[in-house]
Amino acid sequence: MAVTRTFSIIKPDATRRNLTGAVTKMLEEAGLRVVASKRIQMTRKQAEGFYAVHKERPFFGELVDFMISGPVVVQVLEGEDAVKRNRDVMGATNPADADEGTIRKTYAESIEANSVHGSDSDENAKIEIDFFFNEDEIVG
Ligand code: RTP
Ligand code: MG
Repeated sequence: MAVTRTFSIIKPDATRRNLTGAVTKMLEEAGLRVVASKRIQMTRKQAEGFYAVHKERPFFGELVDFMISGPVVVQVLEGEDAVKRNRDVMGATNPADADEGTIRKTYAESIEANSVHGSDSDENAKIEIDFFFNEDEIVG
């Protein structure tokens, strides 16, 4: 299987509880390598741009408010079939539906404050990586 990249965000609910290391450990144990990482405070404009695909959804405003409520850690992850590997270890969007051993089952507070984001396709991974990183910030 090919080594690919995906994009991850450790969300404000997780950084607030000092879980950056704990979440990253679960990503690493799932076979993903952090090849870029930075802690940032997203602006409203950035969060609205990043989640533009969701702008018609009823939760869009709350989602943007949540994503700028504290720092996040944006990461590029590399591994075999990275998008699916990451989605598998993240677990279902709603932690109530997430499998045991997933990040969201272990740490998420709610369907919104669900600790992590992960790209849902190779195409979106590239778009999302380019949204936050220059190529020279990614070292595989
Ligand atoms: P993500 O994009 O963050 O990796 O999560 P996902 O694919 O599992 O979920 P998605 O449907 O793309 O939704 C994006 C984020 O919006 C928040 N959300 N809130 N209140 C709600 O009903 C609701 N539904 C989704 C979550 O933070 C979700 O991760
Ligand atoms: Mg999504």
